[in-house]
Amino acid sequence: MVTWKRRLLFGAAAAVAVGIAAFTLMVVKDRTYVTSPAYTLTAEPNGAVAVVYYSRSGHSEAVAREAARLFNAPIARIEADYPRDMTGQRRAASDAKAEKLPHITVEPVDLSPVRRLYLVSPTWMFRPATPLWAYVAQTDLTGKEVVLVTTGNSRFEQSETDAFARAVEARGGHLVQHVFLRRGRIFWQKSREALLQEARIHLSERAPALKP
Ligand SMILES: Cc1cc2nc3c(=O)[nH]c(=O)nc-3n(C[C@H](O)[C@H](O)[C@H](O)COP(=O)(O)O)c2cc1C
Repeated sequence: MVTWKRRLLFGAAAAVAVGIAAFTLMVVKDRTYVTSPAYTLTAEPNGAVAVVYYSRSGHSEAVAREAARLFNAPIARIEADYPRDMTGQRRAASDAKAEKLPHITVEPVDLSPVRRLYLVSPTWMFRPATPLWAYVAQTDLTGKEVVLVTTGNSRFEQSETDAFARAVEARGGHLVQHVFLRRGRIFWQKSREALLQEARIHLSERAPALKP
């Protein structure tokens, strides 16, 4: 009887310890910005393509920079106030659930010659992160093809991508491709190179041809 109780107590203590370790890892990861090498345009930029992105912890930034590198395209970052701590994470989740658009600032980029715009962001609550929706809401996308690229730990909802496509249409653009890059859950995540390799395959080999 005593042994049985001891086992139960040991099991409960082990479960609590695993829970605390998982929570600590999540907090540490959430506070860490994972840097990637910046991309600078070479002499002959591809005028038909541009990349605009939001990233809270650096993974989408790495993918956006890879897309810019792939197409030799100008790249612009969206800034929004979601600090990398529990407050920022809570705000990100609650804004995403409420579909509340944050105030954003965007690095300057000339979209006038652009025919295909890559929009890159993390997934929050199964949909592109709120700063990307805010960007679409304030941008004239007339005649532009849009490729949505989202990174995530686990999954997205197709209905949310469809809603994003409608938001793009409302601004005059047309969503031609959505690439979801699953990084894997907190304990088992893809390496940076594996993530970028997957991005390259989707953005080049599996991309729809750009209309003339
Ligand atoms: C508030 C919040 C909600 C999230 N919701 C999802 C989700 O619904 N699906 C998913 O796959 N990942 C989700 N994630 C994980 C991020 O999308 C993932 O870690 C992403 O690659 C981070 O990109 P970043 O480093 O560019 O910010 C969520 C993260 C946060 C902070």
